[in-house]
Amino acid sequence: MYRTLLRPLLFNLDSERAHHLALGAARFAGRIGMRPIVEKCFELEDPALSTDCFGLHFKNPIGLAAGFDKNVHAVEMLAALGFGFIEIGSITGQPQPGNPTPRIFRFPADQAIINRMGFPSDGADAVAPRLQEVRRSPNSALLGVNLGKTKAVALDNALDDYLYTFSRIKDYADYVALNVSSPNTPELRKLQERSRLEALFRGVQRDNSRGIPLLVKVAPDLEPAQVDEVLACCLDCGVSGIIATNTTFSREGLSRPTEETGGLSGAPLRKRSLEMVRYISRQTQGKLPIIGVGGVFCGRDAFELISAGASLIQIYTGLIYEGPGLVRKVKSELLGLMKESGISRLGELVGKANK
Ligand SMILES: Cc1cc2nc3c(=O)[nH]c(=O)nc-3n(C[C@H](O)[C@H](O)[C@H](O)COP(=O)(O)O)c2cc1C
Repeated sequence: MYRTLLRPLLFNLDSERAHHLALGAARFAGRIGMRPIVEKCFELEDPALSTDCFGLHFKNPIGLAAGFDKNVHAVEMLAALGFGFIEIGSITGQPQPGNPTPRIFRFPADQAIINRMGFPSDGADAVAPRLQEVRRSPNSALLGVNLGKTKAVALDNALDDYLYTFSRIKDYADYVALNVSSPNTPELRKLQERSRLEALFRGVQRDNSRGIPLLVKVAPDLEPAQVDEVLACCLDCGVSGIIATNTTFSREGLSRPTEETGGLSGAPLRKRSLEMVRYISRQTQGKLPIIGVGGVFCGRDAFELISAGASLIQIYTGLIYEGPGLVRKVKSELLGLMKESGISRLGELVGKANK
């Protein structure tokens, strides 16, 4: 129904309007008590898909990637689609509007999106009470919170900005992702340099008395030597995991040239994300848990990322093209592929292709 009915309607609208409409509808559905019905429609859990990672128990490994619900408007209904975890954000320390619109562009022939959102965020003070509210209601999905840097804050003062957001949200997060890889905030990716990343991570860790798992989200455009630096820093500092990857500057995989600036996601990113996951898993001998993200549209994409070393995966662009039924479909296909390969628990699949 999504592909034949809803998607053509939504794709007739400007991308960001369609997104707000979908989030608004989800929020409304939540308010009028539709959650149990939606949950029933998309239900599919199997103990074979459950997994433990950075000290947390995930009922399944499929997560919603950051950027979809930046300001915590529809967490409960998104969880009802069957995600094992939801990553909200990126949240910035101060409220900011992001880049001028239009700033999201679809490329349907390539199942891709280019975005240059630039972290539109209600800011930490506004988002924290919403998170607290979400925490009050029973929620079966785990909650990750993704932190970004306020644009007006100089790179040298980034730690203070991340620390402020962390102080506001830390009581409500199951894990926290430090986003140092969005292509749409000037200089942000410099935080992936070893000395800056180490200062950022150690600074946040000092205030992390609850021991919340801290993860780092990286760009797919890093050279191998730069990835090695990030990994050395993660292993030295005790980072709990790495999210690979954010959107790319590359335009490889697009069938028509485009002048639009921003980060590319969806099917064209799949190959690069898979390579990054495989590389990280091999370089760390599987010691650093990986959340694989980029171009997941079906169970086989998830299967490949997990066998390349991802413990968990996330989806964003696939949801725009395939609709809300995608989560269930990925789980069901993943289970089928595991069965075919004689794998009875998800943990056995993680990094299998590297052994
Ligand atoms: C419109 C849009 C907004 C995004 N916003 C964020 C964000 O705020 N923070 C972040 O870490 N990643 C953000 N991302 C990146 C996604 O979380 C994900 O890493 C990337 O899109 C690759 O996954 P996909 O191919 O499944 O979309 C955004 C992606 C899109 C398409």
